[in-house]
Amino acid sequence: MTAERTAPDRATPELPIRADLSGRSPYGAPQLHVPVRLNTNENPYPPSPGLAADIAAAVSQVASGLNRYPDRDAVALRTALADYLGHDLTVANTWAANGSNEIIQQLLQVFGGPGRSAMGFEPSYSMHPLITQTTATRWIAAERASDFRLEPEQAAEAVRRHRPDVVFLTSPNNPTGAATPIEVAEAVCAAASGMVVVDEAYAEFARDPAGTALQLLPRYPRLVVVRTMSKAFALAGARVGYLAADPAVVQALLLVRLPYHLSAVTQAVALAALRHGDELLASVAQIRAERDRLVQQLRELGLTAADSDANFVLFGRFADPHVVWQALLDRGVLIRETGPPGWLRVSIGTEAETTTFLSEMRAVLDNRAELATE
Ligand SMILES: Cc1ncc(COP(=O)(O)O)c(C=O)c1O
Repeated sequence: MTAERTAPDRATPELPIRADLSGRSPYGAPQLHVPVRLNTNENPYPPSPGLAADIAAAVSQVASGLNRYPDRDAVALRTALADYLGHDLTVANTWAANGSNEIIQQLLQVFGGPGRSAMGFEPSYSMHPLITQTTATRWIAAERASDFRLEPEQAAEAVRRHRPDVVFLTSPNNPTGAATPIEVAEAVCAAASGMVVVDEAYAEFARDPAGTALQLLPRYPRLVVVRTMSKAFALAGARVGYLAADPAVVQALLLVRLPYHLSAVTQAVALAALRHGDELLASVAQIRAERDRLVQQLRELGLTAADSDANFVLFGRFADPHVVWQALLDRGVLIRETGPPGWLRVSIGTEAETTTFLSEMRAVLDNRAELATE
């Protein structure tokens, strides 16, 4: 296996990097060429030949107009996203960007910044604190219970105590997997004086998709629900994230978005994918079934697997997770070293990939039974 990129072979010059960034490490889940890649919660099913042809036709259509800037307000795409979300949302309620990470960055540029703070309940998505810090916002780490659950009153109390300018909730939560009950989002909205961002990147995989925070939008104008086309829509390579919120939030984001941030090619690809929404979302049922099989079989191996509403599973517990991660990698299976100490995270692949992962995991444990601690 080889790393796709190598560091430049020259001395690193001294650069006047911002003091609060100097010494930090960049985000970098390994991108390795191995037979089974289950480390970044991608959808394992590629676009069908029909969808790929439609995407190619849509790109070819915009190609002849690429001398012009794209629609900087992405009106057609935002309208299609509002239609997909339902809940009486319109184009005025939606906004789109290059992945939901860019959406989160834009939110923090507007509502965070120097002298302001953002809070999340850890363990959760590692980019929330990272983007918070790169926008010079102070990060406040609040805690979950030891079983990773979050209770409404506990969450509301943390919000009242710290009074952050932005609160992040993630549902289903990454890396722990379970959905955050809607009562938690409601309690946090009621307690917060600032913005509440519910990151629903994995919403479509939840056991109860009706538990979405979208239903709270009419009552809480400072609530933002963030979604992505990277997961259920199997479009990670196109980089399309979006949000739903009060129209005033969308207007506020215009203050920080770069002009023409979403290319005409990206908008055309996303619109073509949305036209095939039913076909793309059909993989969600398969992924959910594989997830439930994986959880059950990990437990049969004597491991602990956290309940999951997402397309990944947190499992353990290991005295030294890195040894297990490396042993799997040596067998051609790449998973993720993330989460609380003692745990690892595996994304749901195709049926064949899940089966390979499980049999390699079994082989690793057969060789080194002492790796599992309980
Ligand atoms: C909780 C959560 N939010 C957001 C993202 C970012 O997704 P993207 O930028 O591809 O939309 C991820 C990606 O793994 C995630 O796990």
